[in-house]
Amino acid sequence: MIQHEYERLQELLKLSTDLAEVKDFDVLMERILKAARDFVGCDAGSIYIREGNRLKFSYTQNDTLQSRLETGRKLLYNTFTVPISNESIAGYVALTGEMLNIPDAYALSGSLPYRFDRSFDENARYRTLSILTVPLKKNNNQVIGVLQLINARSSEGTIIPFDPGVEFYVTYFASNAAVGLERAQLMRGILLRMISMAELRDPSETGIHVNRVGGYSVEIFDEWARENGLSRTEIDKQRDTLRMAAMLHDVGKVAISDTILKKPGRLDVEEFETMKMHTVLGARLFLNTFSDLEVAARDVALNHHEKFNGAGYPGHVDPFTGKPVPGKTDSDGRPLPKRGEDIPLFGRIVALADVYDALSSQRSYKKAFDEDRVLSIIHEESGKHFDPEIAAAFFSALPSIHAISRRYE
Ligand code: C2E
Ligand code: SIN
Ligand code: SIN
Ligand code: FE
Ligand code: FE
Repeated sequence: MIQHEYERLQELLKLSTDLAEVKDFDVLMERILKAARDFVGCDAGSIYIREGNRLKFSYTQNDTLQSRLETGRKLLYNTFTVPISNESIAGYVALTGEMLNIPDAYALSGSLPYRFDRSFDENARYRTLSILTVPLKKNNNQVIGVLQLINARSSEGTIIPFDPGVEFYVTYFASNAAVGLERAQLMRGILLRMISMAELRDPSETGIHVNRVGGYSVEIFDEWARENGLSRTEIDKQRDTLRMAAMLHDVGKVAISDTILKKPGRLDVEEFETMKMHTVLGARLFLNTFSDLEVAARDVALNHHEKFNGAGYPGHVDPFTGKPVPGKTDSDGRPLPKRGEDIPLFGRIVALADVYDALSSQRSYKKAFDEDRVLSIIHEESGKHFDPEIAAAFFSALPSIHAISRRYE
């Protein structure tokens, strides 16, 4: 028995290091759920994430329901929310911050403060027996979500109550999930503050411009992704990341002096050279390659002025050193241009969204162009400045793009 416990602890520590390597938040949540279920031995599990005073049912795994599907098919489930209240077990655990280990969900005494919500079972044609529900807490004990394991299995595969001895282990998985969730939420807050800082510095990059570029980018991506057969789940997952990254495309302008940034007329050659640095300086802010959002923000900041035909800037430059990427220089040691798919997808998308907005808007150095003129420039530049696939997606997305520009007039 002691030997067994020792091995379990070893396994747990090994899992910690593995989980720390996972950079994508969704993947992290799926791994934690799977690891917790394997460790304890149970049929199903879910993670709920707090949104205001509700819990959003965000991730779920269920071997029984999965086995009813053809192999390779993904379990589809509706995301729903439950109030943080006694109406459900998960809601009650979030409300009180206490773990609940329930041996039989259908045999709860009427005198208990919480009740079991049978609607999930009814919709899924599933039978819940045992439920172990653990809060996800921050250091200050604030509940930010819930981890729920369902239907513990004996070694023979029959459904049994959760052994109180596993509660400790499940708390461990819950704290891993809480750390990952808190980190993702912190990052979001920092990025939102960076966006408003950039808005304050640059008279042309107003909040409205930034919101429009974010919105346009997402609509273009949506069209492109559907055309390229990405699943709805995958598209939805990337939309939020792209929107935030696109809103940060010009964050590097906070490092450009006011005399250049706010110049009323055209920039001279030297001033424009300085201005071009906003790409590299912006990218340099995003050091953390363990976060999808930061990787996307770096791709966009660095690449949004690249052109599909190789005529853009800054080319193959390492944002952290400001020097050409080794092996990517011409005979004079200058960085080689980026072209085509050297330019990350999100960079190619934001390039178009940004120019569409700049052309349609008034700037200190130019008047707003009318829509016909803007569209004919974009059409003309397809295959030159812009990736032709992205330009096609842009034209398909025009009705949604117009709706966004009206919303942020
Ligand atoms: P921005 O104003 O947001 O413009 C973004 C991009 O839209 C520009 O990138 C350019 O590709 C396109 N664009 C803007 N205006 C026009 C235009 O009248 N015609 C055409 N064909 N394209 C246009 P670019 O050129 O790399 O400039 C980057 C940023 O540098 C601009 O962002 C703006 O903040 C600044 N900038 C560029 N030129 C001038 C200038 O002459 N005077 C001033 N004050 N700032 C400038
Ligand atoms: C609940 O927390 O009441 C719902 C449990 C379930 O998902 O079956
Ligand atoms: C991405 O940036 O998400 C994908 C990169 C690419 O397809 O170019
Ligand atoms: Fe820019
Ligand atoms: Fe811009």
